[in-house]
Amino acid sequence: KLNLVILSGGSGTRLWPLSREQYPKQLLALIGDDTMLQQTATRLDGFSGSLPVAAEPIVVCNEEYRFITAEQMRAIGRPTCHILLEPIGRNTAPALTLAALSVVREGDDGVLLVMPADHVVRDREAFHRAVAVGLEAAKEGAMVTFGIVPERAETGYGYICFGGECSPGVCEIAAFVEKPDAETAAEYVASGAYLWNSGLFMVRASAWLKAIGHFSPAMLAACEASLDAAVRDIDFVRIGRGAFEACPSDSIDYAVMEKLAGTPELGIAPRVVPMSVGWSDVGAWDALWALAEKDGTGNAARGDVVFEDTTDSLVHATSRMVACVGVDGLVVVETPDAVMVAHKDRTQDVKKIVARLKADE
Ligand code: GDD
Ligand code: MG
Repeated sequence: KLNLVILSGGSGTRLWPLSREQYPKQLLALIGDDTMLQQTATRLDGFSGSLPVAAEPIVVCNEEYRFITAEQMRAIGRPTCHILLEPIGRNTAPALTLAALSVVREGDDGVLLVMPADHVVRDREAFHRAVAVGLEAAKEGAMVTFGIVPERAETGYGYICFGGECSPGVCEIAAFVEKPDAETAAEYVASGAYLWNSGLFMVRASAWLKAIGHFSPAMLAACEASLDAAVRDIDFVRIGRGAFEACPSDSIDYAVMEKLAGTPELGIAPRVVPMSVGWSDVGAWDALWALAEKDGTGNAARGDVVFEDTTDSLVHATSRMVACVGVDGLVVVETPDAVMVAHKDRTQDVKKIVARLKADE
């Protein structure tokens, strides 16, 4: 089977004040009526590939969000008893390891399609084609990433130096570099030899467990112990706290992707499927503006918003009316207890405000 694994652990500080610790980005409806988690859970609907899609997605999230997560899945007719609850965040590698272990323990060695819960994919059909291509490589035991042609020297992404095409639509990975510094990122983009890592992965459960067992045996052991100590109820699998606290924290990218190209003896080939699917990780408000539907003068609005002689602005009102007159390129986000006004080119820096507010707490 093809199992969806949805990583839903982030906090999204750059989308403050809408996204908060209590209400992270993936649980919000930022584009369209469904939340980002709900859009992720239905993204593969209508997919036809060489494996059937498992009826129930696996959602890995913090136990704090268990009720809202279950409720959002129910609301789209996708109730799942595979909500794995982490007592504490240990980054993406343990989250995927828990999901892979639970699939293998149910006697399946399915392929996992790992999707962050807070990304947007606008062209679903093109995405299905990329997944179908990646599936064939993953079935053969490869670790498949999905690459995006880079648009700027973003330092928050992984960069994939792609090699030759080994089957139609699938390339070798010569090197994988997670979050390079600005200078290196600029070189990569200028060279034309690199793709952004979209953060989606496809891999057989057993292949992932083999990789993590090789690169981080302590992580594999801690995840096994955490699942042994897990408590199951109807909707949830509560991961054992003590064992999971002892688990090293690391991302899929650092723990495995950066190392795979240099470890051919492991027999897990790193691969990339380049795709052009309208992907965005909605990193900050300017990305949301770019994705949103806009009027003839480039304004996007949500909620009770009035524009007068305003251009290229995004206004998100949740509890009051917001009116703009004679402004250009602004982002205004209104919530009951905080209003944020930023220049559209500076929305990356919203995280600085969040950091300051945290320091003052
Ligand atoms: N369950 C769970 N537990 N999920 C987590 C955890 C965790 O501890 N930490 C992060 N996640 C989820 C986030 O919610 C997000 O959806 C996804 O995993 C990726 O985590 P990020 O923290 O957003 O990673 P990143 O943005 O720094 O980098 C990754 O994504 C980039 C593209 O957006 C990497 O894969 C990069 O290589 C990639 O370019
Ligand atoms: Mg991210």
